Amino acid sequence: MDRYAVFGNPIRQSKSPLIHTQFATQCAELLSYEAILAPVDGFADSWRAFVKGGGKGGNVTAPFKQQAYQLADVLSERALQAGAVNTLYIDSNGRLHGDNTDGIGLVADLQRLGVDLPGCAVLLLGAGGASRGVIGPLLNAGVQQLVLANRTQSKAQLIAESFTNTVYACGFAEIPNKPYQLVINATSSALSNERPDINPSHLQHCLLAYDLSYSSEPTAFMQWSAKHGALRQADGLGMLVSQAAEAFYIWRGKRPDVTPVLALLQQQLK
Ligand code: ATR
Repeated sequence: MDRYAVFGNPIRQSKSPLIHTQFATQCAELLSYEAILAPVDGFADSWRAFVKGGGKGGNVTAPFKQQAYQLADVLSERALQAGAVNTLYIDSNGRLHGDNTDGIGLVADLQRLGVDLPGCAVLLLGAGGASRGVIGPLLNAGVQQLVLANRTQSKAQLIAESFTNTVYACGFAEIPNKPYQLVINATSSALSNERPDINPSHLQHCLLAYDLSYSSEPTAFMQWSAKHGALRQADGLGMLVSQAAEAFYIWRGKRPDVTPVLALLQQQLK
């Protein structure tokens, strides 16, 4: 049976084994998928041991996405743009490929939610790894105007420089006053139950406020945006399932249906 796994530290919280087991059943694919706790400084060794034991491919979560990037023999365009790898697989010549499905997972989820990306002005909050990974796929999906705002302005600037001049970088206080139809929280503020401190006027024309984080309750950003005029809110659970579906497609050549798996996860979070 083909073996797959997710690597992280910590890893107990990972929903990837459940998601991929559901996908495998749905697509009648015979495979196993496990969660592997790699030592913080020992990702490469864990990966090699896994491959020796028959491992065919893997997902990589915090804090190993950069280490996976270093380890891969071949990097996809998406991985290069993101500067990080969340999906690994070995080709028929034994070469290790690194890809990144996080951004395309977000785009797929936004499409599931009916967002017209080419027609959208997007305000993206945060300039960490999560934010870097979604910019390329949003631009490739046709987004024409993307404002990247971060608490620390210089970090937004640094990221914007690696993209085209479609990306305008600024601090929270300098966000241009214009109608944003989509506002995405890619900061890690939800971890401390906070929200990015932006002017609520930026939500006046917002059709969807999307938080890359998720939990059993709507995040602080989702609750706040609902109070300040954003028409709809969504959390990142759909992105999580969609990035997994893209990884499954890379490995198995089949596209699973995300809807029943997302419903199952939403049920479990309650
Ligand atoms: P990740 O991999 O989740 O992107 P990261 O690379 O550590 O994590 O980046 C965290 C991002 O969340 C940064 O943009 C950080 O802002 P700073 O660059 O100013 O530190 C942002 N962030 C975290 N907590 C925040 C908060 N309470 N309000 C606003 N931004 C926050």
